[in-house]
Amino acid sequence: MGKVSKIGILTSGGDSPGMNAAIRAVTRAGINNGLEVFGIMRGYEGMIDGEIKQLMKRDVSGILQKGGTVLKTARSKRFFEPAFRRQAHENLIKNGINALVVIGGDGSFKGATIFSQEFDIPVVGIPGTIDNDMYGTNYTIGFDTCLNTVMEAVDKIRDTASSHDRIFFVEVMGREAGFVALQSGIAGGVEAILIPEVKGQIDSLVNLLAKPERQNKSSIILVAEGHTEGSTFEIAEKVRQTFPNLDIRVTILGHIQRGGSPTAYDRISASRMGVAAVEALIDDQKSIMIGLVNGAMAHVPLSKTVKLHKEVPQSLLDVAKILV
Ligand code: F6P
Repeated sequence: MGKVSKIGILTSGGDSPGMNAAIRAVTRAGINNGLEVFGIMRGYEGMIDGEIKQLMKRDVSGILQKGGTVLKTARSKRFFEPAFRRQAHENLIKNGINALVVIGGDGSFKGATIFSQEFDIPVVGIPGTIDNDMYGTNYTIGFDTCLNTVMEAVDKIRDTASSHDRIFFVEVMGREAGFVALQSGIAGGVEAILIPEVKGQIDSLVNLLAKPERQNKSSIILVAEGHTEGSTFEIAEKVRQTFPNLDIRVTILGHIQRGGSPTAYDRISASRMGVAAVEALIDDQKSIMIGLVNGAMAHVPLSKTVKLHKEVPQSLLDVAKILV
């Protein structure tokens, strides 16, 4: 594979606020470095179907502040099949594309890793998911906006919870990981945070609610959707059985957590990552993800990002233990 001259960019998996900032950064950094940039619509689906169009600097004007992704996204099942990957590769060749930037989560990076090896094409990943569950980076695009959305929702729920002295179980997204629950729980000052990474939390919750000082008081309990001890409704039901007199409500925040105008942090970090992705391709990097590690851009092998597991930081668990 010769020098990179034409970059294809796509967003894949669940959208997240800030993806547009990354698309804009890749497009402008690419063009400023003398490269051509092509937008691939609907993730790998558009690559298979040949939905590819060249992006000029002005095509990415006015998108920085928008949530979602202007390139649209999809969770492609077809891309798992070699025949469709071949078709996708043929479409890249037709357009002269000789490098890819993939913005997405670990599912998207699995596809990217295989594709890069199969067709010897350089691929740089940019981590974009509200879940923040990617190995090799402290942060993924959209996580900060999502935390702010959850924090605002918790603040609002607190008004009604305290007016009625009710117990609210609020479920947040995050797949199998508890990053969203843990950090938004600290930011929202909730009474308990239930995440899959910590065991035996229901017993601790029951002990907390039984304390004399908690009687006739409202509480907000944040539950990660991937909790291993049952769904949020099931966990709330267990608590209701122990305390039949408690006035309990369940709120599932759902996809509201994926939308909205990105925060300054998401916009800036996504812009940095987009520029770093183009620089990495110019530097002949092959299969890497751009990470943000201790405030600096990092290169992490894509193969590691899909194999290794990111742990919830112990320092934040400690803070939550003291404050919650
Ligand atoms: O990965 C992002 C995420 O929002 C998860 O937090 C959630 O479990 C999932 O996507 C929901 O996926 P979908 O939008 O396909 O229902």
